[in-house]
Amino acid sequence: MAEETLEAIARALVAPGKGILAADESTGTIEKRLKSIDVESTEDKRRDYREMLFTTPGVGDHISGVILYDETIRQSSRDGVPFTKILQDAGVIPGIKVDKGAKALAGAEGETITEGLDGLRERLTEYRELGARFTKWRAVIVIDGDKIPSAYCIHVNGHALGRFAALSQEAGLVPIVEPEVLMDGIHTLERCYEVTEATLQAVFNELFSQRVVYEGMLLKPNMVISGKECPQQATPEEVAKATIRCFSGVVPAAVPGIVFLSGGQGDEEATANLNAMNALSAHPWELSFSYGRALQAPSLKAWKGEDANVQAGQEALAHRARMNGAARDGSYSAELEKELAAV
Ligand code: 13P
Repeated sequence: MAEETLEAIARALVAPGKGILAADESTGTIEKRLKSIDVESTEDKRRDYREMLFTTPGVGDHISGVILYDETIRQSSRDGVPFTKILQDAGVIPGIKVDKGAKALAGAEGETITEGLDGLRERLTEYRELGARFTKWRAVIVIDGDKIPSAYCIHVNGHALGRFAALSQEAGLVPIVEPEVLMDGIHTLERCYEVTEATLQAVFNELFSQRVVYEGMLLKPNMVISGKECPQQATPEEVAKATIRCFSGVVPAAVPGIVFLSGGQGDEEATANLNAMNALSAHPWELSFSYGRALQAPSLKAWKGEDANVQAGQEALAHRARMNGAARDGSYSAELEKELAAV
C-alpha cells in the first residue's frame, strides 16, 4: 500500500467487493475445528490448514485482510515463505488478534471480561514489525433473561476495548473493535436489539473518552438477530432493517466501516443477511464482513486434512469469498449461489 495512515489502512480493509477473513482461532478453538474433521491439532496441521487458506488462487479478489493468531503470524509455508509475505504478495493485509480471551468476570456469574492489556504496548510493537497493520480484540456479551448482561459487564468490556483501541492506534495499527453479543439463547430479535444498542453506546462512550480516532478504526459487531433457539426466526430483511436502525443511532458516521462477525450463523445465512443490509438505502459506513466460520466451514469440510483435497478446500473458500463480495453491494442471490457453485 502506497499510503499507510490509519485511515488509509481502514479504508483498504473495507474496499468495495472485499472483506476480512478471520483466521485467528486460538490454539484451543482451532483444535475444536480440526476435531470436527477428525484431524489432530498439531503445529504442522495448523500450518497446513492456514497455508491451504492463504495460498488460495485469487485470494485477494474478495479478501482485503486476514486476522492471524500469535502462532500463525510467526509461521511460514512448507516451502519456508512467511505467511505475512504470502498474504502481502496476494494484496491482502495481515492483521492480528491481540486479546488473550474471555475470562470469568469477578462477582458476575455467567459473564466474562476479555483479558490481555498487560504488556500490550510492547506486543503491538512486535506485531507491527512482523507485518501486521491492524489488530482485533473481542469482548463477549451474553444474553440470559432480563438480568444478563449486567451494566457492570458491558462497562468493563467497553473500557478494555477503549484501552486496546487507543494503544493500537498509538502503535500505527488499525483497531478492529469487536463487542460480540452472542446469538446463543432463546431471546428475541428485540432483546438482541436492546442489548446491542446498550453495548455499542457504552463502547463508543469509551472510545470517545479514550481519544480513539474514529476514522482510523473499524467496528466488528454482531448483527441484530433472533437468538439461535428463539422459535421466531427473523428474515434477512428483518435482520437488515433492525441492524441498520440500531446502528444509525449509536455508531458515528466517521467510522469507515462495520465488518460483521458471523457468530454461528450458517454460511449462506450470513451472506444473505449482509446482502440484505447493503440492498437497503444508503448508510454512512461501508458494511462488510469479517467472518470466521461462515467463510471457512465449507473449506474445512472439503479439505479434510488431506493434501489431495487442497484444491477443493481452496475452491470452497474462493466461492464463499465471491458470494460475500457480491453481498457487499447487494447483488447476491440464491441463483448466484447455485450458478457459481456449479462452475
Ligand atoms: P465468526 O465469524 O466465526 O463469529 O468469527 C469471527 C471472529 O473473529 C470472532 O472473534
